[in-house]
Amino acid sequence: MSDRTPVIAANWKMNKTVPEAIEFCDELLPRIEDAACEVIICPPFLALPAVVEATGGGPVQVAAQNMHFEQSGAFTGEVSPAMLLDAGATAVVLGHSERRQLFGESDEALSRKVPAALEAGLVPILCVGETEDERERDETDRILRRQIDAGLSRVPLERLADVVVAYEPVWAIGTGRTATPEQAEDACGFVRSLISARDEASGAAVRIQYGGSVKPGNAAELLGREEIDGALVGGASLDAGDFAAIVAAAG
Ligand code: PGA
Repeated sequence: MSDRTPVIAANWKMNKTVPEAIEFCDELLPRIEDAACEVIICPPFLALPAVVEATGGGPVQVAAQNMHFEQSGAFTGEVSPAMLLDAGATAVVLGHSERRQLFGESDEALSRKVPAALEAGLVPILCVGETEDERERDETDRILRRQIDAGLSRVPLERLADVVVAYEPVWAIGTGRTATPEQAEDACGFVRSLISARDEASGAAVRIQYGGSVKPGNAAELLGREEIDGALVGGASLDAGDFAAIVAAAG
């Protein structure tokens, strides 16, 4: 076991109204009182303040699912770091594969978003991962290197360990096809080696999550791996009982 504190995050994507979000929190909180890991809920923007209030004072942190890198300005439809802080968020998911694939999120934008989050005092959860084609062509390492190089390119060395990285193979997201613990560990270890190459201590300290069809039934095996420091959970995070079971699997 490493001495890194695992971090388990619920990525709700475009799910849950405000009343549904509050109901989830009320169901979840009594079930995770003994959690030995960090727990983050990532609701849609509109439910951020309600989830902050419903979890208020407790150990659960609240994260947004995206953010612009500027503080304000003529960017219709966007939300700034300052607005997320004002809503009570302490973290933000950046570069999720759905944003990369469906909404044109670019490595260049992420190279600005990650340091902007850190400067604002938000923990960036930088998502990286290869598609099925890329894995079949044996390009996983090349893709991860490109995404990590870009996402962390403007992060000062002394802040590297404050980033959380989520390794999420695109072929495992929402498909029920989880990466094997070996595949997940290899990729997380490779990401760590990229960060260690910049700064040894940061590589040892940075938390690297696995994401992609994490469920109560497979969480313990994945989270038991030395290189895997938590999970970014989509589908199974919509049910408070399932999510609590995954939190419990983190030890
Ligand atoms: P999934 O989603 O758990 O439904 O596969 C994970 C994610 O997209 O973060």
